[in-house]
Amino acid sequence: MPELNLILLGPPGSGKGTQGERLQEDFRLPYYATGDILRAAVKEGTEVGKKAKEYMDRGDLVPDEVIIGVIAERLQDEEAADGFILDGFPRTLAQAEALDAKMKELRREITAVILVEVSEGEALRRLAGRRTCEKNPSHIYHLELDPPKNDEVCDLDGGKLTVRDDDKPEVITNRLAQYREKTEPLIGYYEDRGILQRVNGELPPDEVEERIHALIGTLRREEEMEI
Ligand code: AP5
Repeated sequence: MPELNLILLGPPGSGKGTQGERLQEDFRLPYYATGDILRAAVKEGTEVGKKAKEYMDRGDLVPDEVIIGVIAERLQDEEAADGFILDGFPRTLAQAEALDAKMKELRREITAVILVEVSEGEALRRLAGRRTCEKNPSHIYHLELDPPKNDEVCDLDGGKLTVRDDDKPEVITNRLAQYREKTEPLIGYYEDRGILQRVNGELPPDEVEERIHALIGTLRREEEMEI
């Protein structure tokens, strides 16, 4: 089976984390969500966490040099040998170019960049009602759209559900602006390389997941035909 190297791209609240959590289970691949990695670093008080915190609190992107090293290290890890799922990286053209250089060095290629598309109105609605598990932040809920069985407790591990620090209205507005200004140009960048795949993120989570599976199935069949 050829390796599967996926990138999830999309605005804050589009459902990248929700799908990333499912895809890592479905394909048994390591899942690297830079937001989760940075939040863990802030909590642990590491050097990276100390540098990242002020940017994250404002909803700004952390500097490229802080995050590029974090991801480059993971991609050459043994666990990522058969593939990986990246969520939240790259987010700037400089990050995309650094990723290309790393992939070239490792003699690997990005299989697909999956753009999860939602309107800004839907993204705002989702972020306003999001809750994440304190024990495992990749367990994600929404008070109305995807509620936990028991109020404020994670279905999977009983962890307390909390509101993310950057899900405050003024920070959300800046995160969306940062996406438009710095991350949206990546759509054209990957479209030009012929590896961008669009998915309607406004569908229910199960349907979004099905469509991503269908896309990957098609890509794999195409690869087999080329071999
Ligand atoms: P990060 O954690 O990556 O945040 P984000 O990209 O803003 O994305 P979110 O996690 O907010 O949304 P999501 O698309 O994962 O949606 P989710 O699945 O949770 O980054 C945080 C910060 O870290 C950044 O602001 C920056 O400071 C820093 N950072 C991270 N990476 C960086 C980088 N590469 N460079 C520089 N800085 C970086 O879903 C949202 C809600 O919707 C949930 O409640 C969910 O239950 C619900 N939902 C999901 N899918 C559906 C659906 N299909 N239907 C209905 N509801 C749904």
